[in-house]
Amino acid sequence: MEHIKNYIDQHKDRFLNELLDLLKIPSVSADSAYAADVMKTAEFVKDKLIAAGADKVEVCPTAGYPIVYGEKIISPNLPTVLVYGHYDVQPATPLELWDTPPFEPTIRKTAVHPEGAIFARGSCDDKGQMYMHVKAFELMIQTNTLACNVKFMIEGEEEVGSSNLGIFVKANKERLKADVVLISDTSILANDLPSIDCGLRGLSYVEVEVTGPNRDLHSGVYGGAVANPINILAKMIAQMHDENNHITIPGFYDQVLAVSETDRAEMAKTPFDLKDYITDLQVSEDWGEKGYSTIERTGIRPTLDVNGIWGGYTGEGAKTVLPSKAFAKISMRLVPNQTSEQITKLFSDYFTSIAPKSVTVSVRPHHGGEPVLTPTDSIAFKAASKAMETTYGKTPIPTRGGGSIPIVALFEKELGLKSVLMGFGLDSDALHSPNEHYGLFNYYKGIETIPLFHEYFAAMSK
Ligand code: BES
Ligand code: MN
Ligand code: MN
Repeated sequence: MEHIKNYIDQHKDRFLNELLDLLKIPSVSADSAYAADVMKTAEFVKDKLIAAGADKVEVCPTAGYPIVYGEKIISPNLPTVLVYGHYDVQPATPLELWDTPPFEPTIRKTAVHPEGAIFARGSCDDKGQMYMHVKAFELMIQTNTLACNVKFMIEGEEEVGSSNLGIFVKANKERLKADVVLISDTSILANDLPSIDCGLRGLSYVEVEVTGPNRDLHSGVYGGAVANPINILAKMIAQMHDENNHITIPGFYDQVLAVSETDRAEMAKTPFDLKDYITDLQVSEDWGEKGYSTIERTGIRPTLDVNGIWGGYTGEGAKTVLPSKAFAKISMRLVPNQTSEQITKLFSDYFTSIAPKSVTVSVRPHHGGEPVLTPTDSIAFKAASKAMETTYGKTPIPTRGGGSIPIVALFEKELGLKSVLMGFGLDSDALHSPNEHYGLFNYYKGIETIPLFHEYFAAMSK
């Protein structure tokens, strides 16, 4: 324990400066304009893994962005921890909503981060959290305390669906052999309320197109006599929830694994203040499926949301037009035991069935991901729990994460490996939003906790 604190104390500034350098590279995987920067980030991660003491470090090419692999195998008798993270980030747009530029990291204090937070795209998701593992690894090597074999697999396409990582995993089963996957890409409840996610939601993502007349029309000459695809699309979307905010797609809930009343009662004990929640978001009321709490709505219940909607005229001033087409991007968060393939089909059938004859519709599926549950009775979970308990002075609360990391289900399917979701961010760190940030407290706390995970995991595995 002391050696960890001492090492961090001595290398605090460098640990921070290295992360700031990593955050300066705009590794936006969704936008090909940043392709060279994404590649540069892979090289950066490779160099840092080598410098930290990893062997066989390699930037492994894929059909998309590369996967950075590295390992340190110290004994066949010790357990192996496979660390997964991602070096790609979400697009930073809209840029004008950032108080400081997204790729010029700045440190500022906030109400929940009185010791300061790093404002930059990817600071929390996931560069800051991924890099804690590189620095914790360096610490273990330098202090001669590495307790497990370690393998790193850091990818550059998490934010666009990890499809090439899936191929890599299937092709590298031997190389990726491990006892557990350790991931820091989720949140804790608060800086004084540690928690560990024991589940993630899956995802179905579709793009819909509604076509009315064969061309844009004068809305005075034709309006009211020809179906307006935007009006129709809005109505169809509105029809997807009923008055209780249940999703109306037939069969949508059929596979949902019921959560026992005991588990729900346990979830109800999770500290949560609805008033703080709505105040933070500046809304006067929450919204959601009747009969479920906010924690349940974002953890154990599936949802349907429009992520974007467009068509017609959106420029300056007014143009009187009845557009030919309307579009929307719609995502559904899935829970065990729904599957993305089945839900995408149910959506597609329903969406097509509710379209009036005056329009034609098409549904184009995007990447999907399966929901997962991670065990809370495993040695790895107990090691994570004990590590956090040691550094936070409080036993972490098991929670269910609302987001998705599609590759986690694949680790289980292809490698037979369970994951531990030991995240250190906060939901309020503005992931995917303008002004994303990551607390300095969280960064250093992660670097402090990770070596203990390795130590306890090795000890408990004996
Ligand atoms: N790290 C997030 C997922 C996350 C965030 C899980 C917070 C739990 C709490 C990840 O990078 C992410 O954003 N995933 C995407 C899915 C992907 C297919 C684009 C998501 O959840 O939208
Ligand atoms: Mn992430
Ligand atoms: Mn993300």
